[in-house]
Amino acid sequence: MPRVVILGTGTNVGKTFVACALARALAAQRSVQRVHAVKPVETGVDRPGSIPPRGSDAAKLERAAPTTSLRPHPLYAFPDAVSAHLAARRCGQRVSIPAIARWVSAMHDTALHTWSIVETAGGALSPVSARATNLDVAAALLPARVVLVAPDALGVLHDLRATLAGMAARGLPPDFVVLSAARGRDASTGTNAAELPRVGLPRPIAVVPKGDTNGRSLSRLVRELVAQAQRDSR
Ligand SMILES: Nc1ncnc2c1ncn2[C@@H]1O[C@H](COP(=O)(O)OP(=O)(O)O)[C@@H](O)[C@H]1O
Ligand SMILES: [Mg+2]
Repeated sequence: MPRVVILGTGTNVGKTFVACALARALAAQRSVQRVHAVKPVETGVDRPGSIPPRGSDAAKLERAAPTTSLRPHPLYAFPDAVSAHLAARRCGQRVSIPAIARWVSAMHDTALHTWSIVETAGGALSPVSARATNLDVAAALLPARVVLVAPDALGVLHDLRATLAGMAARGLPPDFVVLSAARGRDASTGTNAAELPRVGLPRPIAVVPKGDTNGRSLSRLVRELVAQAQRDSR
């Protein structure tokens, strides 16, 4: 079952927006039967009941991928809107990466063309516990395609370089980089995609413009993901 892990260069960079747009764009493919989209760890939300808390990323993901049925969703929900490791500690809990991997694997579907998309909490190197970061979460979810989301805004050249350095050090480079209009327009918006390769960074596979909720701008990413999944299944 193909899996996509969404990492970000930080918080509020467009991870949820891109994950939702990707879920919709994938679901529109003839070769794709179902798409599940989940958020294992979320802060700033109450413990979920039978459905994800209102306004949560988990709820947005389920709206974009309505067949998602994992419960509870999020697996770990913490009320304080701080780093997951601290939010968990304040609740007397610890985020267990093996538990996340088991929870995500429960989405396993014998249908070959059911996809899952997993959004991480905060930045790629944000802690989920005293020792582990979202890179450890992503590593535990392999095999998967790793998509790194960054904002099409000032500061992205630094943030992407720093994040990619951290990912390379962990032996987990992203398969794809996506920029999204997660901030107001600034003087760099629209220039960043072309500048990234000029300064030795990967060219993004997509730049998601403001309001592209259906992920039309993600067509190249979708094509690549589907082609790779077909190759993997042979
Ligand atoms: N391409 C886009 N078009 C419109 N709004 C966007 C886009 N990308 C991100 N946003 C908005 O930017 C804010 C932060 O994005 P979000 O996906 O929630 O970030 P993250 O999940 O990384 O915290 C949200 O209000 C989101 O709706
Ligand atoms: Mg989010």
